[in-house]
This record gives sequence, structure tokens and C-alpha cells, in this order.
Amino acid sequence: MAKMTLGVNIDHVAVLREARRVNDPDILQALYTACQAGADQITIHLREDRRHIQDSDVKNIMASSKLPVNLECSINKEILNIVSTIKPHRATLVPEKREEITTEGGLDVFKYEEEIRFAIEQLHDSLIPVSLFVDPTIEAMDKSKELGAEMVELHTGRFANLWAMLHSNLPHSNHSIKELELPRYELSERLEESLLSIKEAATHANKIGLEVAAGHGLNYHNVHEMMKIEEIIELNIGQSIIARSVFSGLSDAVKEMKELTTRHD
Ligand code: PXP
Repeated sequence: MAKMTLGVNIDHVAVLREARRVNDPDILQALYTACQAGADQITIHLREDRRHIQDSDVKNIMASSKLPVNLECSINKEILNIVSTIKPHRATLVPEKREEITTEGGLDVFKYEEEIRFAIEQLHDSLIPVSLFVDPTIEAMDKSKELGAEMVELHTGRFANLWAMLHSNLPHSNHSIKELELPRYELSERLEESLLSIKEAATHANKIGLEVAAGHGLNYHNVHEMMKIEEIIELNIGQSIIARSVFSGLSDAVKEMKELTTRHD
């Protein structure tokens, strides 16, 4: 099986810093610690509303990182101009709504076809490879290829939500997901369907020449399901690692995830 790349998303360190608008915790310290603990890539998202990562963070990370930087961004023109100048190792195009808590759902590669094609061309002109963060459907894989992307990142949010509703105490807490309050057998069936859609999308993407990553909502309990899908060669994980680091430190949190995401042939 191919090696798995672990991209550690350090946006949440900036979320904590921005809660007080001070310079603590230091995003560069997060970068160095993640690197030393075995991360293979650093992932950051420069949002239009700059709610966590700032332009100066992107510049500082690009100047200091020994690891490749995967920069997530929307198809907004101003953002694309910044990304084209900064030249990260890869740009991942994601949908963005200002009111959302996090990136909910993949990029609509049909509705925004022309904007995405233009964004990919602009990034390619700056020699930046492009990944598209999309829902795991065969149609989205074909369209991503046609639009000129090198890679797709499969949105695993639905899988992660179903997994949590079935295997954790989430349904009995304040954060229960209302639309997934279903009998266990139904959750179980939908979870199987969601895993199958990820597997089928990954297989198809691989067959048509796209590299395949996955991310969103992956954690220490559910990530083993992604490890079984051999076409997936990269995982981008943020919230669960940073959440664990509050208790165990970032270094141990990254090391533990790295262990779970290492393929031993
Ligand atoms: N991949 C992409 C494209 C994302 O937008 C996010 C969320 O910022 C992640 C991965 C990481 O998701 P999480 O923080 O749930 O691990």
C-alpha cells in the first residue's frame, strides 16, 4: 500500500490566539512542534473573514516551514491573488460561507464550474498544483479531472457525523446532530453507505489519474476506516489533534495520530 501523508491542520491554534487577539499560542511553535513530532505536511486555511489564520501567518509559515504547506482557500479573487503570490506547495480549493462554523460540504464543482476552472488556471500559471475539496461522488471526481485538478480531497464530514452518532455519546448531548437522530440500524446502514461512497469515489479518482486525499472530522477513533482505503494517500486532520493537545501536548497528539496513520506493509 502507498505511504500515507499526514497533513496537520493548525488553524485551531490560531482560533485560540484570535479569541484574545494576542500573540499566544504561537502558530510558528505549532508548526515546529508538529514537524518534529512527525507531521508530513502543514495545512492552513486563509479564510476570507480571516477568523483564524492571518496573511502574516501564511507568510511566516511559508518562510519557516520545513514541511510542504497545503494552503486551503476559496475561489474568491482577492484570496486567489494572495495565494498565487505566496506560492504554497499546493492550494486546496474549498467552499466558504461566512456564517458557517467550519467547511460544511464539498465545493460545488457543477454550480461554480467556470469560477473553479479559472481559479485552477490562475494557480497553474503560478506553478501551484491544485486539489479540490469535494463530496465523494463519481460525478464530482470526473468533473474535478475535467476542470484540471491534480488531486481531490474527499469530504469526510458526513462519515464522521454518522460515526459519532453511532459510536459516541453525541446523540445524548447538546451537540446531537438533529437530522441524524435515527434508529441505530439506520445510522449503521447510512454509515456503511457513506464509507462505500468514499471508497468508490477514491477508486474512481485514482483510475482517472487524480491523487486522493481525505479530511474533515477525522479523529483517533474513526481514522482507521480511512486507512483501509488504499487509494487515499493523504489525510488532513485538525480539530481532533489540537483538541487532544490541550490535555497531552501537541507533540504527543501528533505522534499518536502519526502512529494511527502509518501503513505497515
Ligand atoms: N481538510 C479541509 C479541506 C478542511 O477544510 C478542513 C477543516 O478546516 C480539514 C481538512 C480538517 O478538518 P478537521 O479540523 O475536522 O480535522
